[in-house]
Amino acid sequence: MSKKIEQILLQDQFSKDDIIRLLQSKDDEEKALFVKSSEIKLENIGKNVHFRGLVEFSNICKKDCLYCGIRAGNPKVDRYDIADDQILKAAKFAHEHNYGSMVLQGGERSDSAFVDRITNLLKEIKKLSNNELGITISIGEQSEETYKKWFDAGAHRYLLRVESSNPKLYSKIHPDNDEHSHQTRLKCLKSLQDIGYQTGTGVMIGLPFQTYEDLANDILFMKEFDIDMVGMGPFIEHDQTPLYEHKDGLMNLNDRFRLTLRMIAVLRIIMKDINIASATALQAIDPLGREKALKIGANIIMPNITPTQERANYLLYQNKPCIDEGADDCTNCMEARINMADGEIGYGQWGDSKHFKNRQNK
Ligand code: 5AD
Ligand code: FES
Repeated sequence: MSKKIEQILLQDQFSKDDIIRLLQSKDDEEKALFVKSSEIKLENIGKNVHFRGLVEFSNICKKDCLYCGIRAGNPKVDRYDIADDQILKAAKFAHEHNYGSMVLQGGERSDSAFVDRITNLLKEIKKLSNNELGITISIGEQSEETYKKWFDAGAHRYLLRVESSNPKLYSKIHPDNDEHSHQTRLKCLKSLQDIGYQTGTGVMIGLPFQTYEDLANDILFMKEFDIDMVGMGPFIEHDQTPLYEHKDGLMNLNDRFRLTLRMIAVLRIIMKDINIASATALQAIDPLGREKALKIGANIIMPNITPTQERANYLLYQNKPCIDEGADDCTNCMEARINMADGEIGYGQWGDSKHFKNRQNK
């Protein structure tokens, strides 16, 4: 007979089978899991929620990931690249509204003009905020030299989702060529960590071909890699992408949503002191999705501060929320939502991953 959930929740080490069991829990068992993960969050992180003002600065991308709406091979996307002064304006907004940190996210490019432009932007953001604004970047796979350049220019956190820790699954959701190699993804994560970034990764949940064992392995991968931050969300099919042909074999959206919450809860129990973001994709399924994730384990939220006219063109998946709102709308809305979820916003703080600090002191 398989172990009782209550019994597993009392352990402080978890086998792969235990994790699978937790990920499959439902009803009262799922409730018990969420009670435990909220307790662990409160004990280790407290009620604080930290903001990362998100600027999706460009949807021009050289990659062709089979799940992503802005893949290079989608001719239906209106491509944009926000001018530097607009990006700096958004950074100023984040600084003036005491966000503590911002995230610069964009499609992947690595030509030297692009690399220099980002370097320059990072320096400018540091300058305009008197070094006060923390900067996370999320611009895909780059050379170690580029990562180092951006680190020296002022970025101190980097998000690069591994998408799946299983190389076989990775190869099913990416084109089969050198530009989309799982090994390169891992090498990049390692470089980021070696350079000294607070390193973030994550996976999509509910992908075609994905099993519970894959997801349990994803959690074990994050632990093994000693990752500082995680952002993971449900996979949401996009009808202009190749993976859409597998839509009939997917879990229903609500099940993907619940499974994402259980992934966050289990991760919080296993990695008590990391930063876990409440992914925007949760809100594409449930209007209160991001608040629910905060309650059961997440502690980071990324209000969108991208200039409104470009938001509708950064559709990695369909039904993305907040595409008509402006930065002020999202800020007020997030504040109300976090208060509702009994959280407290850590205004003006960087909100660094405690795990990163603990790792440094080891
Ligand atoms: N559904 C959910 N998440 C997606 N991403 C890209 N496409 C989708 C999709 N269809 C996620 C990937 C990527 C991040 C920026 O967005 O995990 O790393
Ligand atoms: Fe954007 Fe609520 S967070 S409108």
